[in-house]
Amino acid sequence: MRASSITFSAVALLPAVLGQLSGSVGPLTTTTSKAAKTCDVTKYGAKADKTTDLGPPLQSAWAACASGGTVVIPTGDYAMSTWVTLKNGKKVAIQLDGVIYRTGTANGNMIMVRDTSDFEMFSSTGKGAIQGLGYEFHKNDVRSNTPRLLRFYKVTDFSLHDISLVDAPLFHFVLDTCTNGEVYNMAVQGGDWGGLDGIDVWSNNIWIHDVMVSNKDECVTVKSPSKNILIENIYCNWSGGCAIGSLGLNTAISSIHYRNIYTWKSNQMMMIKDNGGSGYVEDVVFENFIGHSNAYAANIDQYWSSMSSLGSTGAQLSNITYKNWKGTQADGSSRGYLKAVCSNSKPCTDITLTDIAMWTETGSKMVNQCQSGYGTGSCLKKGTSTVSYAVTKVTETAAPTGYSAASMPNNLKTGWNRSSSIPIPTIPTSYFPGATPIKKVAGM
Ligand SMILES: *[C@@H]1O[C@H](CO)[C@@H](O)[C@H](O)[C@H]1NC(C)=O
Ligand SMILES: *[C@@H]1O[C@H](CO)[C@@H](O)[C@H](O)[C@H]1NC(C)=O
Ligand SMILES: *[C@@H]1O[C@H](CO)[C@@H](O)[C@H](O)[C@H]1NC(C)=O
Repeated sequence: MRASSITFSAVALLPAVLGQLSGSVGPLTTTTSKAAKTCDVTKYGAKADKTTDLGPPLQSAWAACASGGTVVIPTGDYAMSTWVTLKNGKKVAIQLDGVIYRTGTANGNMIMVRDTSDFEMFSSTGKGAIQGLGYEFHKNDVRSNTPRLLRFYKVTDFSLHDISLVDAPLFHFVLDTCTNGEVYNMAVQGGDWGGLDGIDVWSNNIWIHDVMVSNKDECVTVKSPSKNILIENIYCNWSGGCAIGSLGLNTAISSIHYRNIYTWKSNQMMMIKDNGGSGYVEDVVFENFIGHSNAYAANIDQYWSSMSSLGSTGAQLSNITYKNWKGTQADGSSRGYLKAVCSNSKPCTDITLTDIAMWTETGSKMVNQCQSGYGTGSCLKKGTSTVSYAVTKVTETAAPTGYSAASMPNNLKTGWNRSSSIPIPTIPTSYFPGATPIKKVAGM
């Protein structure tokens, strides 16, 4: 663990809730206090007619409320054909109760919020959404240079909650270089295609909880640089699955805690992906994972073939714990619950698997494989050596006791057809078997 100054400000969180956060997260002032002044976009030229461009009225309403107030997008259907950058805000909120339909086609971010502090973006009804209508591109196999829905850049002390992000032409939500943030009660529903990421975060001191993602790429994924990230109650409802990476040169990722992660019909339950990157990933906990019908479960791949090698050694992975994983996998004989292919130049150290009970849905064995990985569990070599070793396999032929785990009641039966419009979901009221959202769901 690298030294970090732990400061606890205003909001006292119990250590159990805090996880790996370094202090309080969220806006510094209340929703009510920001609502003392409102800037309603319909007073700045917006019309809920699904035709008039929301871009300029939203930009004007932001300018009027950016130094203290609430920008309101009332219930109704709005078209957005030009994108906005909302910057230099302080003590400001965006209340999105309407639905924003993408009509423009430029690349970039439909809504980018940057250099802003004490910020809240939310729907008071839980019905606010951005509908990206990505299928209009995807049906023609087009994805590059298309719009992204929402990006926060250098935003501090903030929250985003109770909003649906639907059918992004490219990414749904990115947290880039943000600090002290909370993201919760979110439904992200995208096409069944790679490259349509759900939530990507590279930031500091961020709590992401109670999020559902349907797509076929990143569910909730941590990138570099990141520190003190707590991610919990996540439902990858037919997705690519959660990941750390892909790792670039000079990766700096530490103190990451994922817990209560439910993964259904995804590529993996958790992947760390690298190919010739450098730097480190350390002090990571993956706890209370349930999976069903996924290809991989715990997957470390430092020679990941979907990225071209960056030419360095691979990042140093150390002190990574997998704890209390249950459920079943699609085909354990070709992919067991552990595939840890570590860098031969920088073998993984201190990888710990405890309380893992997973079995296969087809056949009657689990084949795990390890390469250059040290620690405790399955095929990992014991000890603290840094000597590389070739792939070794361990086969398990009996179902472990206690592997069976609850399923969520309404798993997505098949991915969203990328040639047809994807409906706006309702914000779920559970994201993990037996768990209810940590914070009240808007409109419930
Ligand atoms: C390993 O990581 C855990 C979780 O972040 C942390 O509590 C612990 O101190 C780390 N251990 C070492 C030896 O750094
Ligand atoms: C998962 O997706 C299915 C299909 O859209 C939906 O019915 C179900 O409510 C989703 N689960 C949650 C918790 O949102
Ligand atoms: C997706 O929708 C298109 C157009 O509606 C249809 O032709 C196609 O068969 C669908 N694909 C799948 C896999 O359902």
